[in-house]
Amino acid sequence: MQQAGGNLGSYVVSALREADTAFNISILARQSSTSKFPSGILVHRTDYSKESLLAIFKGQDAVVSTIATDSLAVQQTIIDAAAEAGVKRFIPSEYGIDTSNSTAPDYVPDTKLKQDVHARLRTKESLGMSWTAIIVGVWFDWGIGTGIMSWDIPNRKAVIYNTGDEHYCGANLERIAEGIVKTLQRPEETKNQFVYVRSHRTTQNEVIALLEKFTGVKWEIEKARTEEATAKGKRLLKEGDDLFGLVYTVLGALYGVPSLSDFEEKAQYWSKKLDIEKEDLEETVRRVVEEVEARKQ
Ligand SMILES: NC(=O)c1ccc[n+]([C@@H]2O[C@H](COP(=O)([O-])OP(=O)(O)OC[C@H]3O[C@@H](n4cnc5c(N)ncnc54)[C@H](OP(=O)(O)O)[C@@H]3O)[C@@H](O)[C@H]2O)c1
Repeated sequence: MQQAGGNLGSYVVSALREADTAFNISILARQSSTSKFPSGILVHRTDYSKESLLAIFKGQDAVVSTIATDSLAVQQTIIDAAAEAGVKRFIPSEYGIDTSNSTAPDYVPDTKLKQDVHARLRTKESLGMSWTAIIVGVWFDWGIGTGIMSWDIPNRKAVIYNTGDEHYCGANLERIAEGIVKTLQRPEETKNQFVYVRSHRTTQNEVIALLEKFTGVKWEIEKARTEEATAKGKRLLKEGDDLFGLVYTVLGALYGVPSLSDFEEKAQYWSKKLDIEKEDLEETVRRVVEEVEARKQ
């Protein structure tokens, strides 16, 4: 049960449909939604009022939220309705840097909303609704392919922050969806926990070397500092530019604050527990370059 039309939602629906476990899934969408959904899945159009959600959630075991960042406040009503309707597990719209760390909002102010969601979820534990927050770092393939995380494949340009050798974690979209499915398949191990899922732990210098390898040319590199990205992001947020304010504050945290972006030990623990296999960094970068080049033609 989720908002299945967004960047991540469609991957989650595919993964749930393809899982060995027979999940009986349905989708939530706004009345105004223009999202395209796969045929054969029940779609509940809702105004996200508590009454509407209560009726939809009756009899459901789990709610997976992939709601947009700028509408996270709506999730508080979704949580209240899910708990009241007797839903057993709630997976909130999380999927980023490590918001279990109390300092996250100092670097990425938007993560305060996600921490408010954790607080709300904890109040529902005594009502019998448990939760799992899935931390993935940067969306690795999406971040390179869209160019939004400072890589520009069409123009062979990149911004490298600090030395470029700082480690960070990131997950491909299919891996995040796999993490959600495995969480639902192992409800006891993942109950009331932060679960860490990643495809790769790498550095910007490793990524640029692979991008140059698979595009066959040297890239134009601009050097920058993460403190500047954080300051720029916060200024943009104040000016009302929510999207780029978020992008720059995330860049600052991703490449400059290892306590928020480099959670390798925890990811290794969860990989074993959830039986998640290793992915190959070269293979991911090669695939993303091929996909972007194919879109140009
Ligand atoms: N770590 C990273 O690099 C990274 C990158 C991107 C996102 N994220 C996180 O991943 C999560 C999902 O992001 P996303 O990019 O997949 O989201 P998205 O595509 O922007 O939005 C997902 C869906 O939310 C629904 N929605 C939007 N506004 C709404 C509102 N006011 N009320 C109710 N529903 C609304 C829409 O569904 P309908 O139109 O069908 O109703 C939309 O398709 C967020 O928590 C975000 O912060 C992380």
